[in-house]
Amino acid sequence: MQRSDGDMQRAASRKWTDAADTSGMFNLTKSIALLGVLAAAFFSPAQNGPAKGYQPQFTSDGQMKLPEDYRTWIYLSTGFDMSYTANPMAMGHHMFDNVFVNPEAYAEFMKTGTWPDGTTFMLEGRMAVGKGSINQSGNYQSDSVMGREAHVKDSKRFKGGWGFFPFDDDKTAKMIPETAGCYSCHQQHGAVDTTFVQFYPTLLPMAKSKGTLSPAYKEESSREDKKE
Ligand code: HEC
Repeated sequence: MQRSDGDMQRAASRKWTDAADTSGMFNLTKSIALLGVLAAAFFSPAQNGPAKGYQPQFTSDGQMKLPEDYRTWIYLSTGFDMSYTANPMAMGHHMFDNVFVNPEAYAEFMKTGTWPDGTTFMLEGRMAVGKGSINQSGNYQSDSVMGREAHVKDSKRFKGGWGFFPFDDDKTAKMIPETAGCYSCHQQHGAVDTTFVQFYPTLLPMAKSKGTLSPAYKEESSREDKKE
C-alpha cells in the first residue's frame, strides 16, 4: 500500500478530473422539437424498464472492474487508525478508512438484515492530515487515496460466497485467494455474513432487530460485556 506521494497525487487528480468532466452542456438554442422528445421520454419512464442498479462487473479472465462511481453509493462509516493487533506497527501517520456499499444492497439490508448477491463494499484508505488551511488541531482526510478494496457477494462465483479484490490504483483487480487471512478474520469476527456490521452504525440496529447477527459475533460481544 505504501507508495510515493507524488504518484498518489497524480493518480488521484487524474481520477477526479475524469469523474468531474461529465457535464453535458444543454444548448437552449437547439430546436423546440428536441424539448418535445425529452418531455415525452420524461413522462413515460416505463419505456426503459425498471432500473437494474449496480451489478459487479468482471473481465473475461475473472478480474473485477473498479466501480468508478462508488463514492456516490451509501456511506457506512469511517474508521480512524483502526488496528487488529494490540501493538500495531507504527505507521508514522494516522489513517482513515471510508466504507461504502451499493444502494441496492443497502436497501435490501434495511428490509431484511441480510446481503443479496451482487452486494459490493468498497473500502478506501486515506492518510490523515493535521495542519492545513485554517485547521489547528484534529485531523482531516488527504485528497490522495491509499488503496481501495472491494468485498463482493456472489454465491455462484465464489466458494465461500464472498470475494476480496484489492484495486490500489488500478481499474481492475484479481481476486485475493480464499486461503488469505482476509477471509478468516471476516468470517470469524464480522457481525453479519462476513461483513463488519458492528462498526457500521446505521446497520447494526437493523441486524439486531432482524436477528441476523452471526452466532460467533453474539458470543464474542457477550464475552466483552461480561468483562466490563
Ligand atoms: C484481523 C481482522 C481483519 C483482517 C485480517 C482483514 N480485515 Fe477487512 N475489515 C476488518 C474490520 C474490523 C473492518 C471494519 C472497518 C471499519 O469499520 O472501517 C473491515 C472492513 C473491510 C472492508 C469493508 C467491508 C466489510 O466487509 O465490512 C473491506 C472491503 C475489507 N475489510 C477488505 C479486507 C481485505 C482485502 C483484507 C485482506 C487483505 C482484509 N480486509 C483483512 C477486519 C479485518
